[in-house]
Amino acid sequence: MFTIITGAQFGDEGKGKIVDMLAKEYDIVARFQGGDNAGHTVVAEGKTYKLHLIPSGVLFDARLLIGPGTVMNPKVLMLEIAMLRENGIEITSKKLGIDAKTSIIMPYHVALDGLRESKRAVKIGTTNRGIGFAYVDKVGRDEVQMADIADEKRFEKRLDELLPQKEMAIKELGGEMNISRSEVDEYLKIGKQLKPYITDVSREINHALLQGKKVLAEGAQGTHLDIIHGTQKFVTSSSTVAGSACAGLGVGPMKVNKVMGVIKAYITRVGEGPLPTELKNDVGEHLRERGGEFGTTTGRPRRCGWFDLPIARKSIDLNGYSSMALTKLDVLGGLLNLRMCTGYELDGKIRDYPPELTEELSRCKPVYTEVIGWSEDISGIESFDELPGNARKYVELLEELMKVNIEYISVGPGRMQTFMK
Ligand code: IMP
Repeated sequence: MFTIITGAQFGDEGKGKIVDMLAKEYDIVARFQGGDNAGHTVVAEGKTYKLHLIPSGVLFDARLLIGPGTVMNPKVLMLEIAMLRENGIEITSKKLGIDAKTSIIMPYHVALDGLRESKRAVKIGTTNRGIGFAYVDKVGRDEVQMADIADEKRFEKRLDELLPQKEMAIKELGGEMNISRSEVDEYLKIGKQLKPYITDVSREINHALLQGKKVLAEGAQGTHLDIIHGTQKFVTSSSTVAGSACAGLGVGPMKVNKVMGVIKAYITRVGEGPLPTELKNDVGEHLRERGGEFGTTTGRPRRCGWFDLPIARKSIDLNGYSSMALTKLDVLGGLLNLRMCTGYELDGKIRDYPPELTEELSRCKPVYTEVIGWSEDISGIESFDELPGNARKYVELLEELMKVNIEYISVGPGRMQTFMK
């Protein structure tokens, strides 16, 4: 059984929570793209875990894998392992596997990310984690891989080749390169510690699937931040759609059994780029405060808006969702006049699907359907039938308009605050 979970909007849909909820049923949970730009929050037994690299299935017995399509900052991984250890969770090599080919985020990637962003006339609002430049090096065949930092000779050889050109690139952007011997030694030390964790992720997953085991691929970021299909240039540097799980993990598409989209009952975006339903008023403030809409990785306030159906329709096409998990329905409580964007007006025409070009999307004016809200606090509700009538109607309308089954509904950050529809 191979399941893929991706975010259907601009990230921060609550994938971490849904993966945590499902992980107990899976043997393997794997990350297939992105890096520590992701921030997955898992709340369990009164504790909040903010994860950036380690798959969200960490609180269960599942084996965790970091695939070769990801970019990994080893220093961040070690901090995460230490944080989990402090909370009584030991990340042994039996628990976590890292593909030998996983791209390593080097200090020069982080420096280049910051310098390049500072020079951009139109900012992207990157998380400043070096993600884009690590992917540039993958495509440019200049990456450092996990196996390299675990082997002193190979790592030194790579650095002899790479450091002079990185120094130059940083200088060209007006910065200064200072990768010291102690930093190289730190990478080597971590490489040595992580050596036992190195694995062939594709082989492991294909073998597990052959044995009838259950594998969950956990997406990071969201569909509309996809490097190919997203709102360029305001996107991340990896492919965030479901098909990317097959490519990133080395599993054939015929092996996929289920593709679940995680979607919020409203919409948020961090960083720059169009967000047609953005609310710069009290309602936006309500969503931000009630929904705790502040970036897990950067702490930036998230931009908030009404549910955007054209965006959802495109996600459904790009991912081929077989079902969805609707999150943060509770956050809409107290807003008696809800709105749902069912289409856009662009250049005098009404459309029900986003235009291809980012510039066009930024000119789209939302067309809204008014929906009556509910005043009750629904965060303690445990079944669909117990929801206030108007909350049920909101969910049913979404389902009808998206034409995809809503399988789960989440009404709060805690593990218990989710039920099947
Ligand atoms: P980068 O991925 O750091 O290069 O940032 C590119 C864009 O993607 C910026 O707008 C970020 O705010 C956004 N982004 C990256 N990771 C996440 C995430 O996990 N959630 C939401 N937005 C993200």
